[in-house]
Amino acid sequence: MKKINEATIKKRFEGTAPDMRSAKKRSKTAPTVIDGEALIPNHLVNIGAGKLYCIQTYGCQMNEHDTEIMSGLLEMIGYTSTDVVEDADIVILNTCAIRENAENKVFGKIGSLKHLKKENPEKIFAVCGCMSQEEDVVTTLLTKYNYIDLIFGTHNIHRLPSLIDDAMKSKAMVVEVWSQEGDIVENLPRERASKTKAWVNIIYGCDKFCTYCIVPYTRGKERSRMPKDILDEIQELKDQDYKEITLLGQNVNAYGKDLDAYSMANLLEDVAKIGIPRVRFTTSHPWDFDSEMIDVIAKYDNIMPQMHLPVQSGNNEILKIMGRNYTREKYLELFDELKAKIPGLATSTDIIVGYPNETEEQFLDTLSIYDYCQYDTAFTFVYSPREGTPAAKMDDNVDLSVKKDRLYRLNEKVKFYANQNNQAMVGKTLKVLIDGPSQKDETILAGYSEELKLVHIKGDESLIGQIVNVKITEAKSFNLYGELVE
Ligand code: 5AD
Ligand code: SF4
Repeated sequence: MKKINEATIKKRFEGTAPDMRSAKKRSKTAPTVIDGEALIPNHLVNIGAGKLYCIQTYGCQMNEHDTEIMSGLLEMIGYTSTDVVEDADIVILNTCAIRENAENKVFGKIGSLKHLKKENPEKIFAVCGCMSQEEDVVTTLLTKYNYIDLIFGTHNIHRLPSLIDDAMKSKAMVVEVWSQEGDIVENLPRERASKTKAWVNIIYGCDKFCTYCIVPYTRGKERSRMPKDILDEIQELKDQDYKEITLLGQNVNAYGKDLDAYSMANLLEDVAKIGIPRVRFTTSHPWDFDSEMIDVIAKYDNIMPQMHLPVQSGNNEILKIMGRNYTREKYLELFDELKAKIPGLATSTDIIVGYPNETEEQFLDTLSIYDYCQYDTAFTFVYSPREGTPAAKMDDNVDLSVKKDRLYRLNEKVKFYANQNNQAMVGKTLKVLIDGPSQKDETILAGYSEELKLVHIKGDESLIGQIVNVKITEAKSFNLYGELVE
């Protein structure tokens, strides 16, 4: 295969390849809201006719939702979906950059596509999502994986039809990654994965710049969608009989900070009033969480009693170098207020262990905050340096074996409290939205309770998409079993 040197890459992709320095900048101008459907050139509406697409999604809910939008765009230009990579005329990998192992998984997948491309050179292979926003990843793709046809960024999704057209015509790899966020694009088609549960973006980007995190670079500055656009979308979902919506953002609590006198509390209240049976939101940063929001959650029965509130560490020095902008004491004040005002609140968190130079004592503070909060569940990670972030430049004196041991000890706590909280559910009747057959056992149904607990029942397929009462008969650490009651 043809080798390309870095100077050629720079020249060829000037302005279209990512660069971390521009990605860090925050422009003062407000984004323009534009009509996405009008952006799809008429002459492209049939380029996918008779062809199949396959999108493989890695990472968070934001990526899952981006995949729904890309599916909508692809179907609009004639493509049909397939789950079988080998059958697809276009394969898109929607990638995640949050930790090194997430990236390694994607590189493994890209490697496994090489033989397919060799056998079928006319197929198109594309890489998008957070990894495509990283300078070093794009350089690696260009030099070592040059059988990829198209790389596009998180701010360029609406350009997919034109980019596919370019890739079909071009012999060289097409790269279009804008480092700085563009406009807010409304009215793009979506192929939602579920007919009962929907993701609704409310804010794009993140301005928090936690020192370990790549997201503010890959997703750009915080930009709130206009309230009317969000509320119209949710009203439409209600009219289509959707049972649950999740408001999405890297940091949902910052919603409205760039708008005129309209906050997350205002939005939550207006969303709740639409009357969709279940409203959730994720992810919250303790930094922007205010009492007004808690009061709204407490006031409306259709805002679910479940809160994901990442703590990251229980130690004040570590929190400070992480740039989290709260102390252990402030976090606990917020946690206590939530628990006091919202009866039956289930909680979950994110925790990073083995931050550069984390001492045993500092780690013990994380274990002790866990003992205090007794979360229903948690997502726990060993710190992973991300190129371009401030933490990646820090020296680190903690051995990987020590980090892994801390993760193990923390996970033992996670399991202990998950089990304890689930055992407390036995005998209770929970409202469960049935999703479909269980992934592990096709003969039983699975769904989620209001508290976001996975519940299994025996029942007829006609229950799929319904909210039913389930009496819990048995509990395991990460799932519940029960029977249908009136
Ligand atoms: N290393 C390990 N975990 C990370 N997270 C974010 N960045 C990193 C990193 N560099 C975790 C945080 C965040 C979750 C989505 O991923 O806990 O809340
Ligand atoms: Fe990353 Fe912090 Fe923003 Fe969350 S709030 S996306 S951890 S920078």
